[in-house]
Amino acid sequence: MTTANATIADWRSYPVTAVPVALTLHPGSLQVTWSDGRVSPFHDLWLRDNCPCPTCVYPVTREQMFEIADVPDDLLLVEARIEDAGVVRLGWSDGHASVFHPGWLRAHAYDAESRAERAHEQAHPHLWRSEMNQQLAGFDYEEVMTSDQVLTDWLRALRDSGLTQIRNAPTTAGSLDGLARRVAFIRESSFGVMFEVKSKADADSNAYTAFNLPLHTDLPTRELQPGVQFLYCLRNDAIGGNSRFVDGFAVAEELRRVAPACFELLTQTSVEFRNKSARNDYRCNAPIIALNDDGSYREIRMANFLRGPFDVAPEVMPQLYEAYRLFIRMTREPRLQVARRLEAGQAWVFDNRRVLHARDAFDPASGERHFQGCYLDRDELLSRLFVLERKS
Ligand code: OGA
Ligand code: ZN
Ligand code: ZN
Repeated sequence: MTTANATIADWRSYPVTAVPVALTLHPGSLQVTWSDGRVSPFHDLWLRDNCPCPTCVYPVTREQMFEIADVPDDLLLVEARIEDAGVVRLGWSDGHASVFHPGWLRAHAYDAESRAERAHEQAHPHLWRSEMNQQLAGFDYEEVMTSDQVLTDWLRALRDSGLTQIRNAPTTAGSLDGLARRVAFIRESSFGVMFEVKSKADADSNAYTAFNLPLHTDLPTRELQPGVQFLYCLRNDAIGGNSRFVDGFAVAEELRRVAPACFELLTQTSVEFRNKSARNDYRCNAPIIALNDDGSYREIRMANFLRGPFDVAPEVMPQLYEAYRLFIRMTREPRLQVARRLEAGQAWVFDNRRVLHARDAFDPASGERHFQGCYLDRDELLSRLFVLERKS
């Protein structure tokens, strides 16, 4: 028995975990009873919409050519039967036939149990506090560059914890380019494809000074903050300049617990971030804590040195300052932080839409400090990981 006669209009694979054992035609929908007892309704329009046949979906791209708006309003499902290996064959009133792979159908079932199962299986961020100082995931440069398995492990750690370190990396300028491109193409910005983090006399960002740089996300001035940031250390001989990180989602979670009204305000109030440069004028209005529809965390946006004046109704201003000051004070608490000096040949790689990073002040007269940085979008990380996981 095989499912070979059922096309999957997709590049993913769908293991058969249960097969349909009974099909019942209802007006407007088909009820599938599975071998493990689950019952899933599928509406006629949904089934017709998802027909994987080569007329409906171009097999080369696996993208749909058919549009559901084109079927007659009175289209009816007239026949449904289970074939070998749980393949489901449907016949339509206009003569069209659709054949569904049982693994695909089960993976896309939308009964309550199936939807809850999918929500549960989604990657959930693993929130951390200062225990991350001991648990920090480090990956060897050479192994990441040569082994797809180590690359997969690294990208999973980056997705789930948001903070990783690469070690034993070459200290030749340009090595970061190869590391970043091992994941995906690089996101260019006004600071270049690669940015040189050094103390510069003509700095166009506080990052390019020797000052303390408070906990922040990079490019909060852009509609989409870069999802992944690399900070790669070529030299770190100056006194000071240690790195600090906090998990912005963990800080938000604490804020939600201890000061719900402050939390609420930071999720609902747009704050302006502005880039102050002679050549550019990027602006973005967005909340500091952004949530997804289901209440989970989408992103943190925060850089005090790039913030514009608050612009809210007078009666809200005192509350906004209370919430903002409390959030910043919480990010400074050592019990929530990772603090570590980055040595030459090491790189931080972190989720810039979740993890805030900082640098202590350093003394540029005491030695050379030279980091290189670049960005990727979070989409690139996730897509690369999904494709790597197809093989494992
Ligand atoms: C930056 C930055 C940190 C550092 O360039 O955005 O945060 O350690 N640098 O220099
Ligand atoms: Zn079709
Ligand atoms: Zn930064």
